[in-house]
Amino acid sequence: MTAARIELAASLRGIDKWYGDNQVLADVDLDIARGEIVALVGRSGSGKSTLLRVLAGLSRDHTGDRHVAGSPAVAFQEPRLLPWRSVRRNVAYGLNTAGVRGAEALAAADRTLDEVGLADKRDAWPLTLSGGQAQRVALARALVGEPELLLLDEPFGALDALTRLDMHALLLALWRRHGFGVLLVTHDVDEAVALADRVVVLDDGAIADDVHVDLPRPRERGTAAFGRHRSRLLTALGVHAG
Ligand SMILES: Nc1ncnc2c1ncn2[C@@H]1O[C@H](COP(=O)(O)OP(=O)(O)OP(=O)(O)O)[C@@H](O)[C@H]1O
Ligand SMILES: [Mg+2]
Repeated sequence: MTAARIELAASLRGIDKWYGDNQVLADVDLDIARGEIVALVGRSGSGKSTLLRVLAGLSRDHTGDRHVAGSPAVAFQEPRLLPWRSVRRNVAYGLNTAGVRGAEALAAADRTLDEVGLADKRDAWPLTLSGGQAQRVALARALVGEPELLLLDEPFGALDALTRLDMHALLLALWRRHGFGVLLVTHDVDEAVALADRVVVLDDGAIADDVHVDLPRPRERGTAAFGRHRSRLLTALGVHAG
């Protein structure tokens, strides 16, 4: 393994994946540096979730090379909490695969809930939470194991616009503190430009564009530079930018 590779949170080379006669990933190369936020955009059915599942280690029948630092954590559009477990036990569950259980896992869960601003909800039941609160619990469950790579599949897609902006700020605050790499799948080009260091465009299973977003944070959405990035991405997505 080369020194350069050790600096990567994830590296894919020549990934192909087929469902029957349907090729859904075509020769995909993708690097995510440690501490880098990469957004993945593309039309519905372009293969974004499939690519995320390859990175997550949830796909077995692809070909090509996959290297990922540590055990990546995943969060989806639906929080997928276990309704019969309290909030803190849902978060602690994120440590079970690492073999951490009992009081140690609960203490880590409480610390992480504090970080996502939900310390007061630790004994609540998932069904009593708002959508935004449930998504913060899902984020805590993903982060409790201190992953080097966080994989997010449209995690904010079901939230209202204001809650989504709160979640963006929370994600950036956690990212600054912990420095994990992120792959963020999103339909929302503005969300991609607001959050990511790089935006990768997937078109019919192949990488069609890879755009560096060299704007200082926090990012103003109304600026000309923001608009230029948005236009380029909309063009790459085949949307006529008005
Ligand atoms: N389990 C499966 N069996 C067969 N085909 C599948 C399966 N999962 C996905 N596909 C196909 O693979 C392609 C890519 O799907 P994928 O879910 O990765 O797209 P996506 O970019 O995440 O779309 P969306 O934006 O709608 O979430 C689609 O053509 C889809 O129909
Ligand atoms: Mg998807």
